Amino acid sequence: MDRRAFLRCGLAAAGLSALSAPNASALADDVALRMEVVRIPLLPKSFDGFRIGFLSDPHLGPWVPDELVAQAVQRLKNEKVDLVCFGGDFIGIPESFPGGLFPIKRNEKLAALRKSAMPDSIFGRVAGLLAGIRSANGSFAVYGNHDNWVGPRICRRKLAEGGITILKNEGHVVNRGGEALRLLGCDDYWTGVPAFAAPAKKPEREIRVLLCHNPDYVSYLLESTNVEFDLALCGHTHGGQIKLPFIGALSYNIRDRRFGEGLVRHAKGQVYTSRGIGVVEIPFRLNCPPEVSVLVLLRG
Ligand SMILES: [Fe+2]
Repeated sequence: MDRRAFLRCGLAAAGLSALSAPNASALADDVALRMEVVRIPLLPKSFDGFRIGFLSDPHLGPWVPDELVAQAVQRLKNEKVDLVCFGGDFIGIPESFPGGLFPIKRNEKLAALRKSAMPDSIFGRVAGLLAGIRSANGSFAVYGNHDNWVGPRICRRKLAEGGITILKNEGHVVNRGGEALRLLGCDDYWTGVPAFAAPAKKPEREIRVLLCHNPDYVSYLLESTNVEFDLALCGHTHGGQIKLPFIGALSYNIRDRRFGEGLVRHAKGQVYTSRGIGVVEIPFRLNCPPEVSVLVLLRG
């Protein structure tokens, strides 16, 4: 489904939900906490029970209030994770929809900014909020398509001020007891030049976690290359954002719909796609609440 069709269907869905389901639960945007156990047969012993906190697609901007991102941050802070990962799309500047179609402003301060002031201000603000999540092994992120469209350098600088490191086709190794967790961050599939920043074959006593905004790149790696990894963490799809009863997600905005949402066990590696926090194209979610995730690695 293309953007125009998504907009048309989203509007129709909004009208239908207003007429038929005046309760607020379908449109509610309380952030859910999703726990996923990821079983890995040869997981190095030192990483048995290791907890990764994952937050994607905050899209802070005129349509996403600070309070929603702050709520997501608080959910993860409560979980005391060992490593923090962010899946990109930190910013959301509505500019690709027909003007005036959605005069909704859920973040008045950011909506009132001059367009030229938005990148600095919004990246700085979102970095300040996300910096509230701490872990013993640090915080890492990848670019999403919106970050690359708006200003990747500003994004990198502001996140770094919040103690968050962007991995653009780079790796970071967490060492524990002579064993390693190698985190591999990829550039965005639509707007960058993604690459797998490690030899294809995985050494013994190493676990590999791939951080990649768009799951279509992970699909490409799984189906067309021989690279080895254990778990990929993705965002981008928003879990569909608009889900109709009996029909499901209108669009995941990806080619390989297997990776639209949640944990998928592929023979060559597991893939987790987050519903994320924010919105694009249409300023609400329907039957698709925002989420943060904790992935618990277990041997077996
Ligand atoms: Fe997004």
